[in-house]
Amino acid sequence: MIRAIYPGSFDPVTLGHMDIIRRASKTVDELIVGVLNNGGKTPLFTTGERVRMLEEVTRDIPNVRIMSFSGLLVDFARHTESNLIVRGLRAISDFDYELQMAQTNRKMNPDVDTMFLATSLEYAYLSSTTVKEVAFCDGDIREFVPAPVPELVREKLRELQAQS
Ligand code: PNS
Repeated sequence: MIRAIYPGSFDPVTLGHMDIIRRASKTVDELIVGVLNNGGKTPLFTTGERVRMLEEVTRDIPNVRIMSFSGLLVDFARHTESNLIVRGLRAISDFDYELQMAQTNRKMNPDVDTMFLATSLEYAYLSSTTVKEVAFCDGDIREFVPAPVPELVREKLRELQAQS
């Protein structure tokens, strides 16, 4: 039984994340999408909102489960009895950080391995940060994120504007 974790901030989930989720879910028995409950960063969406968003967009994939986590990824892996971490690599610029993270994680928990999937070419340029930047500037993000997300981002930006 291979249970894997696909960890990330998913603030918000993009089509690039969806590509990795779909492909990884075909290669393992169970895929847990681990939503980081960011300590340092201030995300646009709360952890609960990101979890619900991911639940909605992965509803049709039976072996995918969404969970949030705080603290170390390797502790979350231990807690969920997962033996694999999945990460997407978009470009060589991702590699340094990802390799360092994989090696540090393996040092801390030798039972956990990291598997890299090369992001599909059509999503290689995509990041949640860019999506947010486009949305903040009133741009159309429908090509970058799955169906309910553009509306959720719009609502969130309206909320923030009303508060300021
Ligand atoms: O979406 P991101 O920001 O690329 O995700 C990064 C993530 C969540 C995979 C990474 O920040 C992480 O694993 N954080 C948990 C804390 C941890 O275990 N850090 C040590 C790894 S070397």
